[in-house]
Amino acid sequence: MRVLSGIQPSGRLHIGNYFGAMRQHIQMQIGNDCFFFIADYHALTSNPSPKDVGDFTLDVAMSYLAMGLDPEKTIFWRQSDVPEVTELTWLLSCVTPMGLLHRCTSYKDKVAQGLTPNLGLFAYPVLQAADILIFKSDVVPVGADQKQHIEVTRDIAGYFNNTYGEVFVLPKDYIIESVAVVPGIDGRKMSKSYGNTIEMFEPEKSIKNKVMKIVTDSTPVEAPKNPGNCNVFALLKLFASPEEIKQWEDRYRKGGMGYGEAKKRLAELIVEYFRPYRDRRAKLEKNPDYVRQTLAKGAQRARAVAKKTLAEARKVVGLGDYYDR
Ligand code: ADP
Ligand code: TRP
Repeated sequence: MRVLSGIQPSGRLHIGNYFGAMRQHIQMQIGNDCFFFIADYHALTSNPSPKDVGDFTLDVAMSYLAMGLDPEKTIFWRQSDVPEVTELTWLLSCVTPMGLLHRCTSYKDKVAQGLTPNLGLFAYPVLQAADILIFKSDVVPVGADQKQHIEVTRDIAGYFNNTYGEVFVLPKDYIIESVAVVPGIDGRKMSKSYGNTIEMFEPEKSIKNKVMKIVTDSTPVEAPKNPGNCNVFALLKLFASPEEIKQWEDRYRKGGMGYGEAKKRLAELIVEYFRPYRDRRAKLEKNPDYVRQTLAKGAQRARAVAKKTLAEARKVVGLGDYYDR
């Protein structure tokens, strides 16, 4: 199976990114033909500073490599090093009905959050479709918030294939429901844009401070509590062993346990979980040139595949090759 996914360099990666997407990416390297990239063109839709685009690109790359992405096996690159996707975006734009994009909730959400509604933000799903279709991906592992974008990709591929002939593969999303929406410390979806994240590699002390701030209800210590609607428990479930989860569940229901106790244990578990990768990441931080070269090599491999698909698409729509025939 060809598996592809992208992640924006719009901030430091957090545990929502990890459980919603990155962990699946790392695991899927076994037995699949994997393509993962850093979506820097997409990040531009929110007008970050040029320095941030570069710094976060390197940061995301280091996090992936530290967590076990194998750049020999998996093709791993920076989106903008394969500019063919932007040309395909144009070809796809010309078969994309405006109504399809008007229905996209992520655009509406971002505008509601105060982002200036520029054309790039509106056309964001078409660029994402080009990313997926240019590599003829079968499966796209993402968090739940991206489901609609994969549906839109399938629709766009269908419009194109129906108009010009079968060039593109229709991809499927791959979403693990139990981790589809990881809550942030304020209880909303954990997201870089809400400032409610716990980063994978932030200093251990800061992880502890943030965990202690997780929003809970005001049920008194003695009273029984419902683990089903507790943000601390939702995060504990990601990190603890099945036996430990069961124990916490029983203690919640029985009463006599304060949220502070659960938070303390959660902070320990998060720190322990990422500790082995922290050292690997620290080594990569000392060698940014290796990381840059790795991305550049990945881009060469990705570009060879992208060029082939773009040539097919150009031909069927009547550009270049058709005229020259
Ligand atoms: P953010 O919302 O922090 O900007 P991105 O949009 O860059 O995150 O998401 C990168 C990947 O991580 C996507 O596949 C997305 O679905 C997933 N993801 C992001 N936040 C969460 C979350 N809170 N729970 C589950 N998956 C998430
Ligand atoms: N829109 C995705 C996100 O915000 C990032 C992305 C860009 C992506 N292109 C992609 C994800 C292609 C999967 C496939 O998380």
